[in-house]
Amino acid sequence: MNRSPSTFFVRTYGCQMNELDTELMVGTLSKRGLTRVYDESEADILIFNTCSIRDLSERKVMGKLGQIGRWTKRKPIIGVTGCMAMAKKESLFKKLPHIDFVLGTNNISDLDYVIDEVIAKNKKMILTEKQFEENLDYFVAERNDKVKAYVSIIRGCNKFCTYCVVPYTRGQEVSRPPEDIVKEVQLLADQGYKEITLLGQNVNSYGKDRPDWSCLFHDLLEKLDQVNGIERIRFMTSHPVDITRNLMQAIRDLPSLCEFIHFPIQAGSNRILKKMHRIYTKEEYFEKVAMLREIVPNATLGTDIIVGFCTETDAEFEETFQAFKEIDYSVAFIFSYSARKGTPAMRWKDDIPEEVKQERLQRLLQLYYKMQAKQFQDLVGTEKEILFEKVGKNGMVKGRTRCWQNTIVPGGEELVGTLQRVKIHGFSNQTLHAELLRQPASLL
Ligand code: 5AD
Ligand code: SF4
Repeated sequence: MNRSPSTFFVRTYGCQMNELDTELMVGTLSKRGLTRVYDESEADILIFNTCSIRDLSERKVMGKLGQIGRWTKRKPIIGVTGCMAMAKKESLFKKLPHIDFVLGTNNISDLDYVIDEVIAKNKKMILTEKQFEENLDYFVAERNDKVKAYVSIIRGCNKFCTYCVVPYTRGQEVSRPPEDIVKEVQLLADQGYKEITLLGQNVNSYGKDRPDWSCLFHDLLEKLDQVNGIERIRFMTSHPVDITRNLMQAIRDLPSLCEFIHFPIQAGSNRILKKMHRIYTKEEYFEKVAMLREIVPNATLGTDIIVGFCTETDAEFEETFQAFKEIDYSVAFIFSYSARKGTPAMRWKDDIPEEVKQERLQRLLQLYYKMQAKQFQDLVGTEKEILFEKVGKNGMVKGRTRCWQNTIVPGGEELVGTLQRVKIHGFSNQTLHAELLRQPASLL
């Protein structure tokens, strides 16, 4: 092992929370004087920030970890962080004898310590015991992007959907103090960031674990809307049960809060919803969507769907298909069910054959693409506000509408980080094509 590392490599798998955790680890290691490299063979420390949400996510990581680092001359220190660290713990050392440390999702603040120990004692280390992350310094994050940033507001999940590993890999819900969040958002605004995405497995639970703070999610949003310089606030992800009238009114009333809400239905059949322990019925879900549409008529919705959950019949899948059509989502993530060790659903047989799962998934995807094309067609000729994020290919610059639709216009670096009015004139491959309504002042 290299006892005086100078470079590190990190690879991130999975969700936005993992992306943010990676930014925190990158910041921690940079502060230590290490340089980030993007070629694994040049790194003295290799970190794999992993995901366990589906079997495929784990297999990808295991495949990669199986080959990595063993034969390179630099003899890197290899660490596994993220959800697989929590799901597999010590057993990772048995399967992958060449890895040096395993760090849990609530132990990220121990990264420096674990590296020191591995180097000093030349032995394997595992730290996965913390129930929640109490010492994390969010201000250390070294961010990937200059226009938009992730801000964690609550960690963990108390919902215990029967298929999901998250409550076991990320622990119970713990909110972050509002002053701390406001301070971070203010700092981001001062650094020139224009958009923030508030992160949590269930952001709508924010503050419920700390009644003494008297600050629920919509209260926090009000505070953040006051921060000068932040043009757009988004949040991910929500549990339908916790989406309140107050939140819908906040979306209507707070100028920076975008009119897009991730509202994951998961399934359209009441029997399956009950088996998933989603704690709402299809009717209750539809009522909430109707309430949202009444309060915020221009809101667009995103969803997650799982097809082929244990015992799901063709007729039950049809209910999901119909619900999907009826709600007219603008964004959808569709998954086939994957049995996860340690979850309550493991007590049932994963009895839907893979071909049936794939067939259902493809049918929903086809419907999604058709619906999206229709939504995009309806947008042609309309004007939208775009926040430009980065330069794309062929002289185009990329941004998003407030409702999260990808949009490109001719232009370059001068537009990145600016808000512009555009007119939509076409679309292709899930992207809107537009032109600026007027040249930005800087170009006149
Ligand atoms: N199998 C398939 N999809 C899953 N998800 C969570 N657990 C599983 C699983 N075991 C999906 C849900 C969730 C999203 C993040 O991942 O749709 O909302
Ligand atoms: Fe998983 Fe359900 Fe919690 Fe979402 S709400 S993280 S699906 S247990």
